[in-house]
Amino acid sequence: MLSFDFLQRPRFISGPGVINQLGALAKELSATRVLIVSDLGVVAAGLYKKGLDSLEAVGLTCLGFHDLHENPSTDDIEAGVKVAKDFQPDLLVGLGGGSSMDCAKGINFVYSCGGRMQDYWGKGKATSDMLPMIAVPTTAGTGSESQSYALISDSQTHVKMACGDPRAACRVALLDPELTVTQPTRVTALTGIDAMTHALETFVTKDRNAVSLAYSRAAWQYLSHSFSKVLEDPYDLDARSRMQIGACMAGMAIEASMLGAAHALANPLTAHFGIAHGQAVGVMMPAVLRANGRDTHIAELYRTLLVDLGIHVPCDKAGDTLADWFVKHLHMAGLVDRISLLNITETNFDSIKSTLGKAAAAQWTASFNPVIYDASKMERLYESVS
Ligand SMILES: [Fe+2]
Repeated sequence: MLSFDFLQRPRFISGPGVINQLGALAKELSATRVLIVSDLGVVAAGLYKKGLDSLEAVGLTCLGFHDLHENPSTDDIEAGVKVAKDFQPDLLVGLGGGSSMDCAKGINFVYSCGGRMQDYWGKGKATSDMLPMIAVPTTAGTGSESQSYALISDSQTHVKMACGDPRAACRVALLDPELTVTQPTRVTALTGIDAMTHALETFVTKDRNAVSLAYSRAAWQYLSHSFSKVLEDPYDLDARSRMQIGACMAGMAIEASMLGAAHALANPLTAHFGIAHGQAVGVMMPAVLRANGRDTHIAELYRTLLVDLGIHVPCDKAGDTLADWFVKHLHMAGLVDRISLLNITETNFDSIKSTLGKAAAAQWTASFNPVIYDASKMERLYESVS
């Protein structure tokens, strides 16, 4: 736990209205031509224009790339690289949710280093320096702004590839809570639940260390105390800011210690049934809390997180109690806690659960869970919330 190698890369700037600093920050990075990656929802919400206005106000030439989808694919990256080759940017801005930021990172890999996205699957595969990038998150969820990884789906196999390299890390992350107040309630729910699972999973991974534990714990405190507030009042700017900082810190924790079994179980649900990531990881998190909580050391860590909620229970009740708290917040967010309540028919699920179990056990994130679960145990975890 006391041995680690952690380079904190992005400069973080947080506060209402900091989007207006985007142009000046781009100039600091010697930018002249800026490619802004934002999905169409971000454009429709008027947030893309805020970034564009700030960049154009300081005389920068800008182009938007909007042809990307939720869970960006290798096809999206290819389309973006084509645009970049024509435009020749010297700075990338990922302005939007995790999809926009990950897509910008993916474009950066292929544009800067050549080849195709699949060449960068894994860690440290970049072959040259990459363009500087600024991240401007408009949700409080993935923490992509603080990670050197991009999650890109292979268009052929639908496998989610984690592609990371220290050179892909953003130079600056602008955390402006005003950008998050207009998002639909369901997006607040899905991204907030995802961010909380990041705090919960990183806090106990096998690779947890002094840095990750500090970020996970702080993220948990920010997120767990603010989530219900942003659901009740979307315009509570203080709570929005706390969610954004919490999600960002959870992203730092992922960078330092990776994720766990809930993400390993969630990814096959998304790949096979198109379940939104926040819902998929939300439905599986309680099962993992209950299972991991049978390990005494992990239960002790869970007990620490419960103390942050003002809940005091004996160690042997910690996993179940934390799972119950999480389920309550799933319901509060309008999300479900059973696979049978998702758009999957019983027959479909029964016929595929063995395949899902194998896929979950084979996920990279499964190898970081504090307890290693094989394919049959993963299948039982699916069954426990079916
Ligand atoms: Fe996640």
